[in-house]
Amino acid sequence: MTAPASGPGALQMTAKRAGPLKGVVRAPGDKSISHRALILGALAAGVTEIEGLLEGDDVKRTAAAMAAFGAGVERLGEGHWRIEGRGGFSEPQDVVDCGNAGTGVRLIMGAAAGFPLSATFTGDASLRGRPMMRVLNPLGRMGATWLCREGGRLPLTLKGGGLKHIAYTLPQASAQVKSAVLLAGLLADGGCEVIEPEPTRDHTERMLRAFGAEVEVSEAGSGRRIVLAGGQTLSGTRVRVPGDPSSAAFPLVAALVIPGSEVTVEGVLLNALRIGLLDTLGEMGADISVTNVREEGGETVADITARYSELTGVEVPPERAPSMIDEYPILAVAAAFAEGPTVMRGIGEMRVKESDRIALMAGGLAACGVGLQEDAESLTVMGAVRANHTVAGGARVTTHGDHRIAMSHLILGLAAESPVSVDEPGMIATSFPGFVDLMRGLGAGIEA
Ligand code: S3P
Repeated sequence: MTAPASGPGALQMTAKRAGPLKGVVRAPGDKSISHRALILGALAAGVTEIEGLLEGDDVKRTAAAMAAFGAGVERLGEGHWRIEGRGGFSEPQDVVDCGNAGTGVRLIMGAAAGFPLSATFTGDASLRGRPMMRVLNPLGRMGATWLCREGGRLPLTLKGGGLKHIAYTLPQASAQVKSAVLLAGLLADGGCEVIEPEPTRDHTERMLRAFGAEVEVSEAGSGRRIVLAGGQTLSGTRVRVPGDPSSAAFPLVAALVIPGSEVTVEGVLLNALRIGLLDTLGEMGADISVTNVREEGGETVADITARYSELTGVEVPPERAPSMIDEYPILAVAAAFAEGPTVMRGIGEMRVKESDRIALMAGGLAACGVGLQEDAESLTVMGAVRANHTVAGGARVTTHGDHRIAMSHLILGLAAESPVSVDEPGMIATSFPGFVDLMRGLGAGIEA
């Protein structure tokens, strides 16, 4: 009998060495674009129809939040949602619980700040531990007020309305902060200007245009300057969500490290600000091909095929970090099977994700017999010391409820000499609800 794939009930999940992985799969909808489609759909006047929405827990929280702020939210079928925007937010009658979703809560706070309402936000234990001052600082300068826990933590109550113009230079490379300021700027007197010293994912800018807003983007040094006029109204539209490159990374890296494998993931988003992992794997000698490149809904998508490869360690340039910030955990797994060290610098932001991802990857990989060096802003993975590019494995890894830490170690377990287990596997459903079934369909041995 096969145990349930995942779900909140499973206490642990184990991945065992598999034969070659083979097959063609579709990645789930992109998480960043899914959150934005729901939020812009709710802010807009009229109907927005979304196809390919990621139905992970994080995004479902944002859908529920949009209903709480007054939008009509209806699920028409798998990944097919209809949002009836009222041209603005009304005050929610209860606390808005964003679950595990940093993107959800930060973008919604930005959007809500434009309206004369009070809203109280909370989330799960991980989200309640994550820094919110990075969003509250610029929103406060625009005129929003709040009351929050020590250190800018959730739960917090935000009071919006009457915002004024801000010219804001991002202190950290964060698309969430940029997006929160842009969404608040939509309603601010005089709009807003955001300067990002390093370019970050630009889905908000692209989607604002698709909803009819005027957004001016220009180069500013090695980064960008984004200018938005205030008082702009959005109109409902159709959104087709492409496959998530951050989720596609798991089956693709699995194929690279399991001998004899060949896996194709179809319809993956190829936005230049999201594909740093593909560049890095290419430099490591990965056999990856990108075919059927096409434009879909204002974004480039393609099919990506990965075949087993003997990888070599590389130095990842720090300026590449924003374009692969969520992919370092799975890169660290690829690096564990590579010949020679892989050095990842300028990745301090990983410490304030769903968990301290540098610490958890270092701990999990070390328990699996991989050599590492860790400091505040960097991680070095020593690379395979065993014959045939293998890793010992044989550990039970603590994930602190972090979906990407769990999936990364399960992929490691598929190629390691001994099985690898992870705790809290139910959290995988925050971003990739079909992960276990998809991996099993390719031939992976993963058991709850
Ligand atoms: C996201 C931005 C990134 C990323 C997160 C999604 C987004 O966070 O890690 O998973 O959708 O804007 P930061 O903005 O904090 O870097």
